[in-house]
Amino acid sequence: MLSAVVILPLSAVLAGEDEEDYGGLPPGAGRETTFDACNACHSAMLVAQQRLARDIWDETLDWMVEEQGMDALEPEERKQILDYLSTHLSRDTPR
Ligand code: HEC
Repeated sequence: MLSAVVILPLSAVLAGEDEEDYGGLPPGAGRETTFDACNACHSAMLVAQQRLARDIWDETLDWMVEEQGMDALEPEERKQILDYLSTHLSRDTPR
């Protein structure tokens, strides 16, 4: 009798290994969520280049939804993204 063989997709093996896959977003909790939400219309690179204070990131997220046609984020998802952005792309983050 054959035993079940689990084959992991290659993408799962490679995920998170290569920073280039995230448009230059630095590693950190919430990076994948941020990438998925922000790479749809413009490159995540556009996001990775910014250095903003938390309240400005907050406003930027609203601006994306209200003026740029981004789907509203679930509260949990929004918090994750805002935490990620204000931690890893803050005014104090070196370029
Ligand atoms: C539905 C499409 C869409 C999605 C999704 C989206 N954006 Fe944007 N974003 C735009 C457009 C369009 C512009 C250009 C607006 C302009 O400059 O008039 C833009 C511009 C920007 C800019 C540049 C602002 C500047 O000063 O030039 C930032 C930063 C940004 N987006 C952040 C984000 C982040 C963070 C996310 C994910 C949470 C995101 N965007 C998701 C459409 C989108």
